[in-house]
Amino acid sequence: MVNFKDLGLVNTREMFKKAINGGYAIPAFNFNNMEQMQAIIIASANTKSPVILQVSKGARQYANQTLLRYMAEGAVAYAKELGWEHPQIVLHLDHGDSFELCKSCVDMGFSSVMIDGSSLPYEENIALTKKVVDYAHKYDVTVEAELGVLAGVEDDVVAEESHYTKPEEVIDFSQRSGCDSLAISIGTSHGAYKFKPEQCTRDPKTGKLVPPPLAFDVLHEVEKKLPGFPIVLHGSSSVPQEYVDLIDKYGGNLPNAVGIPEEQLREASKSAVCKINIDSDSRLAYTAGVRETLALHPDYFDPRQYGKVARNYMIDLYKHKITDVLGSDNKLAK
Ligand code: G3H
Ligand code: 13P
Ligand code: ZN
Repeated sequence: MVNFKDLGLVNTREMFKKAINGGYAIPAFNFNNMEQMQAIIIASANTKSPVILQVSKGARQYANQTLLRYMAEGAVAYAKELGWEHPQIVLHLDHGDSFELCKSCVDMGFSSVMIDGSSLPYEENIALTKKVVDYAHKYDVTVEAELGVLAGVEDDVVAEESHYTKPEEVIDFSQRSGCDSLAISIGTSHGAYKFKPEQCTRDPKTGKLVPPPLAFDVLHEVEKKLPGFPIVLHGSSSVPQEYVDLIDKYGGNLPNAVGIPEEQLREASKSAVCKINIDSDSRLAYTAGVRETLALHPDYFDPRQYGKVARNYMIDLYKHKITDVLGSDNKLAK
């Protein structure tokens, strides 16, 4: 049993309280390898932003959960080396799908876990979430739950009203499950294809897809029901056109990729939304850097040559998210 405090990590409790009161959101960036982790820590240290390092089940399968855990411990030491005296770094399990997985993460030093019971019937979601909360809280590990289903691009209903979180359920759900934060569904979805072209309009000047707005009315209803309660937004990548263009220019093919416009994420960050999940944008920045470098330098075969470019693209992306979108820069406790 390893406690997160011994690794120099923090849980989300204080971080979220400050974020809600301060009208900004904490970035939750997924990582799967060293370059992503370095970029996240460099960007956070440079901008003085608290940060959540997220590990998905897929990341655990790809990179090995033990290695990722030690990398997070290393991240704290690295942050200090970069001059960040008291790093505020959370190690979080993203989309945990069973009690056993959450328990295993708590036991190996994660400071926060998500139990995603959103696909279960309501009562089963509460029961599973409560079971995780009861275990995690013994070790002061905070728990994120999810209510409402994030629309997938495979879903063919345009309004998808039925997938949104029902505000009338959030009080009962949060009280009975005991969760510390709640991910809600207001129209975001995972990946780089968040909307089908037929759900969007086209900008007459650029011809680019303009997605439908998020359901801010649902978010505001939830805020009214749960004043001061931490809300989480998944699927919050914006799919920057510059990276899509670079990928396409250098041999990729990502037609009609579309994300959440940054103005809407800026607006959400000022609300009770205090954690914003971003994964796909980092994947795009990384891939753009690798493709571009290899296309421009066919003679390169040292992973550091293209890894460095990819890492720099991700550093720029993370800094931009922190300072220009979420507003979490310069928010470290003294
Ligand atoms: O929510 C999904 C995250 O983007 C993680 O994705 O399961 O492919 O690692 P993944
Ligand atoms: P994106 O695919 O929009 O980056 O969402 C990531 C996410 O929600 C991770 O849980
Ligand atoms: Zn997610």
